[in-house]
Amino acid sequence: MHDTQLTTAWRSPSNIAIIKYWGKHGDQLPDNPSLSITLSKAHTETRITARRLNAGESASIIFLFEGKENPSFGKRVAIYLQRLSEFVPCIKEYHLTIESENSFPHSSGIASSASAMSAIALCVADLQSNIDRKTHDAAFWQQVSSMSRLGSGSACRSVYGPVSVWGYTDMVPGSSDEYAIPMPHVHPVFQTLKDTILIINDTMKAVSSSVGHTLMDGHPFAKARIAQAKQNLKILLPALHSGDLITFGKITEAEAMTLHALMMTSDPAYLLLEPNSLHVLQRIKAFRESTGVPVYFTLDAGPNVHLLYPQEYKDTVREWILGELIIFCKDGRIIEDHAGVGPERI
Ligand code: DP6
Repeated sequence: MHDTQLTTAWRSPSNIAIIKYWGKHGDQLPDNPSLSITLSKAHTETRITARRLNAGESASIIFLFEGKENPSFGKRVAIYLQRLSEFVPCIKEYHLTIESENSFPHSSGIASSASAMSAIALCVADLQSNIDRKTHDAAFWQQVSSMSRLGSGSACRSVYGPVSVWGYTDMVPGSSDEYAIPMPHVHPVFQTLKDTILIINDTMKAVSSSVGHTLMDGHPFAKARIAQAKQNLKILLPALHSGDLITFGKITEAEAMTLHALMMTSDPAYLLLEPNSLHVLQRIKAFRESTGVPVYFTLDAGPNVHLLYPQEYKDTVREWILGELIIFCKDGRIIEDHAGVGPERI
């Protein structure tokens, strides 16, 4: 006998890629392996209330984002859940009310699909395991990661912290194109790494990541990019293990630059960096050279700049941001985050 009403709620974080996923094929499979740091404060909280359908009723979904109906994201969620019902049959037997909210401001320009999609995947997988009276073993988490990937590629990495790898590579045992895995043996300096996000612009991006990925099909540098991502991962892995910040920083910045170079050389070409992004990048280099503070930048598919640095430098970096960089931020906005452990039940 099934319960007539079930509830589940999870908090799932965003993540910032160090080795960028850029280009995909087939069923949301990545063209190259990627590696990311799972964040902590930038997260989505999602609650699903599932009421068993009465005879004759058909399945339905209500999606509320920050208390209000959000038709455009609601539609994406409905399509996503339809897809997930192949893996989680209970979706078809319940009326679902999904309530979701982000910890970061909606208009911060911060990608929310990784945290949003992984939180939904977690909730529905949890509902199914409640119904089946199963525990959350390694297979559960693997399935959640796989399901998250179908919602948004990068979401599959949010399932584990503090560092995860997605995409098959013989350099990481157990890695797969279908799900992410947690990266073992990460040096403590990276487990508590700080990520301060400078909000350069908070408007919607002109070209979504999904469109950006498709522009890698037939891109003149696609083959070289895939080889480069693998090579960068090869250099990064030992640095992550040993705590080599200089190598980490070099690869991190090179990957960010390549991501945007690929956009600028796509057909059609496009540019997401803004003048203030460039001002900040130049100042980061100058500050690092003059002070020796190991602070590095990365970028996602937008103009905002992520500053990555060890926790011990947090006061120095904060003072510098407030003194020198804040003028380049929209309305002086920054988000102070750090590496995190992954999702949790709430
Ligand atoms: C630049 O995961 O947002 O942030 O799979 O189409 O949903 P879809 O794309 P998405 O792409 C993220 C791209 C990136 C790099 C990364 O996170 O690895």
